[in-house]
Amino acid sequence: MTTARAPGKVILFGEHAVVYGRPALAAPVTQVRATASVEDAPTGRGLCIDAADLCLRRQVQQALTPDDPLYAIATTVRHTLDALGVAGWPDLALSVSSSVPMGRGLGSGAALATAIVRALAQHLGHPLQAQEISDLVYQTEVIHHGTPSGIDNAVIAFEQPVYFVKGQPIQVLQVGRPFWLAIGDTGIASPTRDVVGDVRRRWQQEPAKYEDLFDRIGAIAVSARDALASGQIAKLGRLMDENQALLERLDVSCPELDGLIQAARQAGATGAKLCGAGRGGNMIALVAEENAESVAAALRQASAANVIVTEVKSPRPLRSRQQRISNERSDS
Ligand code: PMV
Repeated sequence: MTTARAPGKVILFGEHAVVYGRPALAAPVTQVRATASVEDAPTGRGLCIDAADLCLRRQVQQALTPDDPLYAIATTVRHTLDALGVAGWPDLALSVSSSVPMGRGLGSGAALATAIVRALAQHLGHPLQAQEISDLVYQTEVIHHGTPSGIDNAVIAFEQPVYFVKGQPIQVLQVGRPFWLAIGDTGIASPTRDVVGDVRRRWQQEPAKYEDLFDRIGAIAVSARDALASGQIAKLGRLMDENQALLERLDVSCPELDGLIQAARQAGATGAKLCGAGRGGNMIALVAEENAESVAAALRQASAANVIVTEVKSPRPLRSRQQRISNERSDS
C-alpha cells in the first residue's frame, strides 16, 4: 500500500485580490491533513474510491458526473492517470480521509487532491515534482471554486510558505523570525465559489472601486512579505489589521468573524484578520508564543468551534526542499 498526505493552509494576506492578479501570502498548516492510500486490487475490479468520512464507496467511472459527491475526487484521479500516461482504469483501491474541515478556508479540496495525486503517482512508480502536482490540483480547484487564483494548490503542493502571484512561478517566503498564529473557526461553512462569485459581480458593477481595493490589498501583501523577511512582527500585525479593514470593505467578513477577530485583539494578539473566502470559515490572529494559549482560550470563549495554534517558519535549511523547489522552478 502507498500512503501520501497533504496539509491544510491559511492565506496570510491578499485573499480575493489574488484572483485579480495581486500578490498574496499563504502558509501550510500541518495540524490538519488529508490522507490518500492506494493498493493493488484483484484483476478486473477497476479503480474503486472509498471515502470513509463521507460513507461513500464507488467505482471511479460511476463518480464521473458533476452531481456526484465524489466527482472532484474521480476527476482528480482521471487527470492524474492521464498525466502519468495510464490509459483506462487500473485495478486499484483508493481510500481517502481528511481532518481538514470542509468549506472553512483551510484548503480542504486542494489538500485531498494533493494527497491523491501524490499517492497515485508514487504507487504507479512516477513520483511527480511539486509544480506538476500543483498544476494537476489546480484543475480540481476549478471544480470546487470556479475561478481559483491557484494559491491553494501552490502552497499545499509545495508545503512551504509562499508569495504567490497568479500565473507566475511561486516564490518561497523568507521568514526572518518564526511567528505563531492562532486560527479560530467560526463553525460556519462558506462555499468559496459563492463568495468569489459575489465579489466578481460587485467588481463588474463598480470596477474602479474594486480595483482600488484590490490594489491596496496587493500593496499590503508586498509590505507583509518585506516585514516577514526582516522579522518585523509588530508591523506584520498592523498589516493584518489593515488587510482585515479592506476585506470588510469588500463585504466578505461577517459578525462571527468580526467577533473572533475582536476577541483575539482584546486578548493581546498583534493583529488579526479573516482567512480564505470569508463569510464564515476561519480567522487568524498573530500571537507571541507565550501569548498563544491565552488568545486561543479567548477565541474558544468567544464561541470558536475549533482553534489551532501553529508556527510559521522558513523552509527547512539543509540542501533540502527549498533548493529542490528552486531547481524545479528553473527546470520549468
Ligand atoms: O479556499 P479559500 O476559502 O481559502 O479561498 C481562497 C482564497 C480566494 O482568494 C478567496 C480565492 C482564490 O482562488 O484565491
